[in-house]
Amino acid sequence: MADSTIYQASTTAPVNIAVVKYWGKRDPKQNLPTNSSISVTLSQKDLRTHTTAACSASFPKEDTLRLNSSPQDVSGARTQACFRELRALRSAVEAADHSLPKLSTLPLRIVSENNFPTAAGLASSAAGFAALVRAIANLYELPSSPTELSKIARQGSGSACRSLFGGYVAWQMGSKNDGSDSVAVEVAPASHWPTMRALILVVSAEKKGVSSTSGMQITVATSKLFKQRAEVVVPEHMELMEKAILSKDFESFATVTMMDSNSFHATCADTFPPIFYLNDVSKAAIRVVEDINKKAGKIIAAYTFDAGPNAVIYFEEENLDVVAGTLKAILGELDGWQGNQIKVQGTEGVDD
Ligand code: ADP
Ligand code: DP6
Ligand code: CO
Repeated sequence: MADSTIYQASTTAPVNIAVVKYWGKRDPKQNLPTNSSISVTLSQKDLRTHTTAACSASFPKEDTLRLNSSPQDVSGARTQACFRELRALRSAVEAADHSLPKLSTLPLRIVSENNFPTAAGLASSAAGFAALVRAIANLYELPSSPTELSKIARQGSGSACRSLFGGYVAWQMGSKNDGSDSVAVEVAPASHWPTMRALILVVSAEKKGVSSTSGMQITVATSKLFKQRAEVVVPEHMELMEKAILSKDFESFATVTMMDSNSFHATCADTFPPIFYLNDVSKAAIRVVEDINKKAGKIIAAYTFDAGPNAVIYFEEENLDVVAGTLKAILGELDGWQGNQIKVQGTEGVDD
């Protein structure tokens, strides 16, 4: 009789919100980007994915994935690439030690839950694929480093490679055709800048009209602004951003964050047909942040938007009352404001 043991492992992964954005693939098959990017990993206290990976000879033959209780299609090339690569690593470990159970041959059952809106521009694919890859790596007891795992998570969703680290994280675009140098690396740990905070304005929890994957491919194919962004704007922003983080220069961090978000959304507007991720409430949030900074006489808050209408506002803790208070007072009254959610996130290591 077949062994019916169920092997399983669970993990959580945080979202990360880029301050220099990834938008464009030079190789869609391997998910290699047209530019490097930098993000801040947010606390898992408010936004996180929880994933359990299990395998057993007693499971139905096909691998399965349930996300927030709905069965998902796992036949897509991206999920398949993650399963294949993790199985290959496990298989090598099994070949070296014959006493280990042959988990690499067993069907996988993945169960995942996001405690925040999925596909709404709050980086669910980042937390989702980081959690999926780490849950299976734990199940297989792989000795891989976060940077090694980042190469696999990248193939699930590009932004996921950065969610394997806490703090300030760069995804180096790399130059090799096989993707072996397109990995995430730590720029600085969360403890380097402990006063950094992020505030999430959930403008809409609805699923976005154009997914990140298809949006960026249409941008690469049609936008003439895009080349300038990838070749000139982003390299400049990467350099300025690394410096701003290392020297904890909030005004520079904030200026680059806002300009990079604007540059990314400009290439979306320049895509044909145009893609509009921001709505009127998003634009109102931009104006409120401008007013806050004008009133303060210096830049104390920075807005950024991923591929969706929801705003993330970065600020330093000492300015919590003025930033959160002003945003809540003005935007809390507007139509389109859902759930009145303003959450303050610390940044922390993924294992904290
Ligand atoms: P987002 O802005 O939320 O990252 P994307 O368009 O990039 O939106 O990706 C959303 C997709 O990511 C979902 O439709 C789903 O396929 C995948 N995804 C989200 N969460 C998870 C998860 N926990 N596990 C596996 N896949 C996930
Ligand atoms: C605007 O990583 O979701 O959030 O690789 O196709 O899954 P795929 O795309 P995804 O794109 C994220 C785009 C962004 C910017 C960023 O996170 O850097
Ligand atoms: Co995404």
